Amino acid sequence: MQIAIDGPASSGKSTIAKKVAQQLNFLYVDTGAMYRAATWLAQQNQVDFGDALKITLLLKKYPINFKLTKTQQLVFVGSTDVTQAIRTSIISQNVSQVSALEEVRHLLVQQQRDLANQNNVVMDGRDIGTVVLPQAQVKIFMTASVDERAQRRYQENLARNIKTPLDQLQQEIATRDYKDSHRKISPLKQAVDAILLDTTSLDIDQVVQKVLEIIQLNL
Ligand code: C5P
Repeated sequence: MQIAIDGPASSGKSTIAKKVAQQLNFLYVDTGAMYRAATWLAQQNQVDFGDALKITLLLKKYPINFKLTKTQQLVFVGSTDVTQAIRTSIISQNVSQVSALEEVRHLLVQQQRDLANQNNVVMDGRDIGTVVLPQAQVKIFMTASVDERAQRRYQENLARNIKTPLDQLQQEIATRDYKDSHRKISPLKQAVDAILLDTTSLDIDQVVQKVLEIIQLNL
């Protein structure tokens, strides 16, 4: 079983996908975290964010892994826990450049497909319904207004003790949306067979409920 959830930055995809995966007892795959981890690797090793060759070599040397604990899903690069580090502003500002690199996408998409071949998955990202899992049984495209998304990211960051001003977050989100939707390879776009879900005026439980209903209807 493959459930694909795509949408722009901070549209609530990961929060919802995680909860839906929990309810269904499926593996949750956060593909954004994988591109963030690749960006973190470049930054740590002082590699240019446009250097596809060096970044893919680093990714092969230090593979990305997810580890599920009772309370959260941790992201590892090699043996380093990068769960917090990949959420900082420097990573958010540069991830679109790294994720636009063809070789990096090629490698990470292969890993995403392997995970989906070995498990029932709820996978979220930008190109899951269009490129990674075009045969997914359920495809959802999740949106919300930029203001609402910045507000959500602000609250999320506060909980993680990251204090980025709200207007900076709005700017970052709008810029990232633009770059993600206008890149040459696998741009962010709704798959023709995806169901559009606008979450602007919905709370988390309402969205989870709606997604579970959509899944039931489409199985
Ligand atoms: O989902 P999140 O906002 O953490 O994703 C971070 C970035 O990773 C996105 O802005 C996008 O550039 C990239 N991404 C992507 N394809 C995916 C998931 C994320 O290009 N499937």
